[in-house]
Amino acid sequence: MKEPDSIIKYYSQRAPEYEQIYYRDIPIKRKELADEAARLRQLAADKSVLDLACGTGYWTRVISQTAASVIASDISAEMIAEAGKKNYLCQPDFVLSDLYRLPFADASFQLVTLGFWFSHEPKQNYHDFFNILAPLLCQDGAIWMIDNNPPAEGPHLQSVGQDEYGNNYKQRFLDSGKEFAILKNYFSRDQLETIFEPRFHIKSLIFNQCYWSVVLGPPRSG
Ligand SMILES: C[S@@+](CC[C@H](N)C(=O)[O-])C[C@H]1O[C@@H](n2cnc3c(N)ncnc32)[C@H](O)[C@@H]1O
Repeated sequence: MKEPDSIIKYYSQRAPEYEQIYYRDIPIKRKELADEAARLRQLAADKSVLDLACGTGYWTRVISQTAASVIASDISAEMIAEAGKKNYLCQPDFVLSDLYRLPFADASFQLVTLGFWFSHEPKQNYHDFFNILAPLLCQDGAIWMIDNNPPAEGPHLQSVGQDEYGNNYKQRFLDSGKEFAILKNYFSRDQLETIFEPRFHIKSLIFNQCYWSVVLGPPRSG
């Protein structure tokens, strides 16, 4: 397998073309995304929300339509610059930050959201990752995530290999033809339950054809 590329470098270079993924003319994808947006608007209503790894702000904009306050954070200045071009109903504060070194106090948010991030999180990091997310939530706070099932990305996983932890690496191309190999994992419904259940209360888990989404309730201790 080719040496994997840095996710940060890949997304920074992809920032200007990233949102194409949302606007492809594939009715099933459009419908699932629209349904999820409706659920997210409801979930975010009147809440203080932190949108982590916000990218170009696609979900930030959805959240801003009902939330009381929004902080949107990403490590890529290029992504934040794209996100800054959008109009928001509730204007987010944009924070350039590594999600592993967040500058927020504990119990600051009623909702923490992560669009299309979990598939990039290395499997061996889940424990540490949950230890970053859980303290951010105030009492009765929740975490929302959405991510891809393989059909959302074409019929093949285009796997270019796995590492010793079982992480899948996938070939991706920019419009320019530049090639990357990035960590991208896919999950069955059962695998998602096995990952989240020991640590969180799974309030909802929707496993559709193209996307899965989850709402995780107050963390279990540990
Ligand atoms: C798949 S994109 C998701 C963007 C957006 N949440 C969405 O759903 O459209 C992944 C994002 O994670 C960001 N990212 C990568 N590594 C990060 C890190 N260590 N901390 C914060 N953001 C990171 C990338 O810059 C990119 O914007």
